[in-house]
Amino acid sequence: MLFSFSALQALLLAFFAVRTASIAIGRNPNDWIAPYKRGEVLQDIVTWDDKSIFINGERVLLFSGEIHPFRLPVPSLWPDILQKIKALGYNCVSVYIDWALHEGKPGDFSAEGVFAWEPFFDAAKEAGIYVLARPGPYINAEVSGGGFPGWLQRVPGVLRDNDTAYMEATNNYVQKISEIVAKAQITNGGPVILLQPENEYQSFIDGFPFPNFNYWDQVKDQYRKAGIVVPFISNEAYPAGYITPTTEADIDIYGHDGYPLGFDCANPTVWPDGKLPSDWWNTHLRLAPSTPFSLVEFQGGAFDPWGGNGFDKCLSLLNQEFERVFYKNNYGYGVTIFNIYMTWGGTNWGNLGHPGGYTSYDYGAVVDEMRLVNREKYSEAKLEATFLHSSPAYLVADRINGSTSWTTSPDIIVFPATTETTKFYFTRHTKYNSLDSTSYKLHVSTASYGNITIPQLNNSLSLNGRDAKVHVSDYSVGDFNIVYSSAEVYTWKKYNEKTVLVVYGGPNEQHELAIEDTSEGYGSAETIEGSGVAIAQKTGYTVLNWATSSERKVVKTPSGLYVYLLDRNEAYNYWVPATPASYGQGSLIVKAGYLIRSAVTDGTTLSLIGDLNVTTPIEIIGGAPQGLTDLQFNGESLDFKQDDAGVVTATAEFKKPTISIPDLGAVEWKYIDSLPEIKADYSDETWPDADLEKTYNDKYEQLTPTSLFAGDYSFHSGSLVFRGHFKANGQESSLTINTQGGSAYGHSIWLGDKFVGSWEGNDVTTNYTSTNTLPNLSSGQDYVLTVVIDHMGYDENYVVGEDEMKTPRGILDYTLSGHDKSDVTWKITGNLGGEDYVDRARGPLNEGALFVERQGYHLPAPPADDWETSEGPTTGISAAGVGFFSTSFDLDMPDGYDIPLSFVFTNETESAYRVQLFVNGWQFGKYVHNVGPQRSFPVPEGILDYHGTNWVGLSLWALEADGAKVEKVELVPQAVIQTGFGKVENAPLTKWEKREGAY
Ligand SMILES: *[C@@H]1O[C@H](CO)[C@@H](O)[C@H](O)[C@H]1NC(C)=O
Repeated sequence: MLFSFSALQALLLAFFAVRTASIAIGRNPNDWIAPYKRGEVLQDIVTWDDKSIFINGERVLLFSGEIHPFRLPVPSLWPDILQKIKALGYNCVSVYIDWALHEGKPGDFSAEGVFAWEPFFDAAKEAGIYVLARPGPYINAEVSGGGFPGWLQRVPGVLRDNDTAYMEATNNYVQKISEIVAKAQITNGGPVILLQPENEYQSFIDGFPFPNFNYWDQVKDQYRKAGIVVPFISNEAYPAGYITPTTEADIDIYGHDGYPLGFDCANPTVWPDGKLPSDWWNTHLRLAPSTPFSLVEFQGGAFDPWGGNGFDKCLSLLNQEFERVFYKNNYGYGVTIFNIYMTWGGTNWGNLGHPGGYTSYDYGAVVDEMRLVNREKYSEAKLEATFLHSSPAYLVADRINGSTSWTTSPDIIVFPATTETTKFYFTRHTKYNSLDSTSYKLHVSTASYGNITIPQLNNSLSLNGRDAKVHVSDYSVGDFNIVYSSAEVYTWKKYNEKTVLVVYGGPNEQHELAIEDTSEGYGSAETIEGSGVAIAQKTGYTVLNWATSSERKVVKTPSGLYVYLLDRNEAYNYWVPATPASYGQGSLIVKAGYLIRSAVTDGTTLSLIGDLNVTTPIEIIGGAPQGLTDLQFNGESLDFKQDDAGVVTATAEFKKPTISIPDLGAVEWKYIDSLPEIKADYSDETWPDADLEKTYNDKYEQLTPTSLFAGDYSFHSGSLVFRGHFKANGQESSLTINTQGGSAYGHSIWLGDKFVGSWEGNDVTTNYTSTNTLPNLSSGQDYVLTVVIDHMGYDENYVVGEDEMKTPRGILDYTLSGHDKSDVTWKITGNLGGEDYVDRARGPLNEGALFVERQGYHLPAPPADDWETSEGPTTGISAAGVGFFSTSFDLDMPDGYDIPLSFVFTNETESAYRVQLFVNGWQFGKYVHNVGPQRSFPVPEGILDYHGTNWVGLSLWALEADGAKVEKVELVPQAVIQTGFGKVENAPLTKWEKREGAY
């Protein structure tokens, strides 16, 4: 038995030991009261009022993207994602921390190697990105157990409540992770500005005493005691009103989430009626009028379950049109803490996901799983974030209720936000999901010119279906006042010699913009590029009226304002790159292409860092130093021209590299059987006995004489193998067995070396009872059952009181005909060592129970010399069982390029098999051929060694009697991007070593 002395008992003892040791003589009793309970100000850097937070006294809009660094175990690529988010115009990321990856065994906290957080916080600071830290301990996040380590199955009492055992189980993690986060707080010069304790605490079972504010006191205390001083923010899944500044939860800043379009990726064109949030402003005023309106998670995509529709469909559902209509609706309500979940989703590598999802966690987010930024929604998000960061009035404007009286059409509703001067008109269809194109005129209300109905010159404005707009009036652009603009503002900058304003409209729309101009030369604004702009004078201002087209138009006023009138598709190519390590916006406006990461000006040298997917014209329309002498792109000087207005033009050349990718059908493979357990001479003597008489699991009833819940024996990931020994009496006609592994799991059963049957699995079934006919057995002989069960991760623990995370994995019950249950004695294994996991570099969850995993043969350089030579996984295996195919090949990818690679499986036939893909020892794919939907498994550089030898292993579990073949698997480049990012360092690619005690 593995647990003679429960780890919890050990923790408890440690807890009391610490308490005793901390009693010191002669202390002021007041010292025992936490500073925040004495009413002391913990810090004065991050403060807030009803409109926004302040950082060092300045109002800040947090435009934030959710990313989970742990979903990419290549820390040297974290800066790449952060730079791509900064390039969007965002200034913050929110991160969950997954406890399950940090404390695989109670008391054994580890945050090293790919699990270290310091490199991430450093990279965020370097990218100029603030961090909202969300360490849980419960996070949901579509991760196994919702972030709870598997051993929480053994913790008595209710999880996420103030039961002593639960609180003590969390102490070590919260203390240790908080010390790391605390060092990275802004008070210590780091990027962390907010912390969210707990997560979506608003759902509970009927009759449960809820909410438990005593629990919240304890949760907050844990963080404060460990040195967290930044404000606490809450995130209710919907505005329930439990965790607010005015309830006993006494949270600093109230926030909630919103996934208004849901997760119905099967119908990617359907926007059902009534899904646009319509009461959030009033809800905010009711629940937390003294804190900024905060959406701590707002829909940025969707998750997708096993057997789902694939993330392409989710991307279509939650596309750029969704961003326009739904995000602008939030701006109408004045959101100033706005975090978009997900902004980059990543990969559920190494069994870290929950059973409701597969390996990819792409989420249909703006940055795709492979870190590519070619989705249109990326560009749309950039337009919106950059606009808000260019518009300080947004942060102080008062919101008033929406009305259809602001336009000439009842089909258009406007939500105004107003200061004494500036007004924003957040404009959408009254019926939010209308597909109509609607003509309207807008009534703007200006400070100096009264009410004006626009456009004044000709025509009407128009709003296409599934579009929304932000019109403005009395909008400050440096020294200029834009009396009004129907065209949307991308950004503006005031320079010494000129001011540049960039506005855009959808294709072929009529727009009008008016510039107050009382200076000398009044009235002589001129079009200096393009055509078709009508220019007219009114008293005190100049009116521009035009139809957007692919032809760019530039209007210059005599006083030095350059107005760029763009088509939205053209605007997508514009960037406002920041200098590294600056939280603010940059001062350059650059037209380029795929990506501009950053810009640094040094005297008359200007250096851009960016990525190209084609040869790209570069144009710097504002901010280049006059008399530029050197323009560098990714460190190389470009030929350039600079005109009298300071505009710089150049071309960044895309050089097509030569790449050579191995043909996995042609490389040599080695093969080894991975189910030696069914051979007659196999001994499981050293396996753990499954002999625990009473489970530690207090939530689920044990139906077997000894517990067969894998969590009792410290096995929590990948797969499980059970061995049931019995002496035959000749009456064994059948075996009925109930197993449980989570959605899409399967099981296979052998009696000795005879295949008995499989549950092949489907998208929804989480446990299954199979009745299997057994062959005639010889009375008096010893037999052994081998049961292989897939483990899809633990359920999340969303509803307090339900303790769903404790749902066991393993064998729930069995009946062997002619026997008492107790006639069978069981052995169990999961990953070698269970919670004492062997591979510290790859963490507690990367391995499962298969023989090759226990031996470590999935790691680089396994001892394959005497394995069979094979043509590879396409030859397959000829009977139900588990085989392992291993190969190695060299990669020599060109420097200066990002060329994401995916392992792509063909799926044209019906056959029940399961594959795990190991790349240099990292499990980067769980492919369930008969369930799907994922066929293409991206593996990042750093897991693949782009300049060395790579080891790929595929475990093939055939669930049908006649075996299975992998139809085809290929390594396929997904894009060729010339990048200024720099070198990627490999994750630890530690090699196979003989494992002590491996069985
Ligand atoms: C848990 O909270 C309840 C309700 O506030 C309280 O009555 C109880 O004493 C608390 N228990 C512990 C162990 O803190």
